[in-house]
Amino acid sequence: MCGTTGIGHTRWATTGEVNKVNAHPHQAGTIAIVHNGVVSNHKELKEHFNSNLFVSDTDSEVIARIIKRDGVSSILSSIQSIKGELGAILVTDDCLPNTIWAYSDGSPLIAGIGEDGDYYIASDVRALSGYVTKAYRLNSKELVIFAAGERVNLNKYKIAEVPDKPVSKNNFDHYMLKEICEQPLQIDDEPEEFNLPAIGDNIKIIGCGSSYYAGLLGKRFLEDISQIPTSVEYASEVSLNTPMPHNTTHIAISQSGETKDTISAIKKLFPKVVSLHNSNGSTITSLCEYNNYINAGPEVGVAATKTFFKTCLRLYHLAEYYKTSKHYTPQLELENIAQQVIDNANHIHTVAQQIYHYNNFLVLGSGYHYPIALEIALKLKETAYVHAEAMPAAEMKHGPIALIDKNTPSIFFCMSNDPNINQILQNIEEVKSRKGEVLVFTDCQNIDADWIIELPKHMNFRLQPLISVIGGQLLSYYIALTRGCEIDKPRNLAKSVTV
Ligand code: G6P
Repeated sequence: MCGTTGIGHTRWATTGEVNKVNAHPHQAGTIAIVHNGVVSNHKELKEHFNSNLFVSDTDSEVIARIIKRDGVSSILSSIQSIKGELGAILVTDDCLPNTIWAYSDGSPLIAGIGEDGDYYIASDVRALSGYVTKAYRLNSKELVIFAAGERVNLNKYKIAEVPDKPVSKNNFDHYMLKEICEQPLQIDDEPEEFNLPAIGDNIKIIGCGSSYYAGLLGKRFLEDISQIPTSVEYASEVSLNTPMPHNTTHIAISQSGETKDTISAIKKLFPKVVSLHNSNGSTITSLCEYNNYINAGPEVGVAATKTFFKTCLRLYHLAEYYKTSKHYTPQLELENIAQQVIDNANHIHTVAQQIYHYNNFLVLGSGYHYPIALEIALKLKETAYVHAEAMPAAEMKHGPIALIDKNTPSIFFCMSNDPNINQILQNIEEVKSRKGEVLVFTDCQNIDADWIIELPKHMNFRLQPLISVIGGQLLSYYIALTRGCEIDKPRNLAKSVTV
């Protein structure tokens, strides 16, 4: 293929089946577009065209049609007439082969110039690593035209830090395994000081997926350690109608800093939101007044592992900070103990090979381990494509116990330092006596279980979930590996969910 301009999309279309016809770029005559977003009125817009013109089922194709109809000279007004979460769009026109039109609204577009003088534009700064040394974040709602022979003044835009080189897998088979194994190194001695407003009477945490579950663990830390009433809500469920006490501190958690649902929620809670993120310069950091970088390093595997771990650790630090005003309290032994779980990976792999064929799991934990059960059920779904349902251990008897049979193993977190240990032991017995199979993560002796994965105990039971989660991550990883799944890039998922 030869040419001087090219556009492409590494993700399947959101609207329409996963197939080649629906894959970007979409074309209308000489116009081609790639789009990261949602055209909410695409059905209405399509009515203005002959329906036979459309070859795909996507919402995005209509953008190409509209630009084709109106001409590239009025591209800005054409794009602005489209409703929805427009996201980011790149357009080319075969009639002007040396030009790319770039427009974003709500999603990032980063541009830089390579050593060869060529322009590179991407939705994630990491994609530019190795191509440009300096990159800039284009402004929202501004059309930028990149044309051969005409320099774009990128200096007027905010700088986006370009990672030195693409992250290597080193000798690991998958990024996910590498990132799980990097977790003991997340326990840095001197993390950045928190950037926070004066504390309110209560805290509300928002996030999606793993970030939401980290928030649930954060609630435990904040309520138990610093005695601050804390609520946690899925970002997508935040409503303007929820009565909100005046003096609430809002914390938004997002490793990517680009999750659309979290961005929309922050806009509702605006201003004065505190972020906990792993992505400097992201959209969320530009919206929040108080930004806190977790500094977990780049995470390439789509399923969050080390960013979950580090977010939880920073939430623990935060709770300690609210109690003691010290920005950091040492976590004795955490690194060593976390490493012991990783050293047990071979045994966890063996267990995974014995249970990988099950299609349903219950994942149970109590108190501090309930958010971990939720996180591990999510890892099993995301990476191994198995149905896993998490619940507080004692809730199992209030309904889900009806699901117990030999085809639905229960995975328990049962640590001797757990304040609810006796109740969990009883829940294990309840499953066993109903002929259910049981896998237990534990440091206890003499548990009647089909599979036991020993976990080291931390003397601070509040930090135990950070140890236990590593065991669950490894189990999910090895089940996914044995099932032959696309571990680092699971189907239908993306690292930044910008739609
Ligand atoms: C997606 C991913 C989840 C992730 C969630 C939140 O749904 O599949 O693994 O936890 O987004 O991402 P964030 O970047 O906001 O933490």
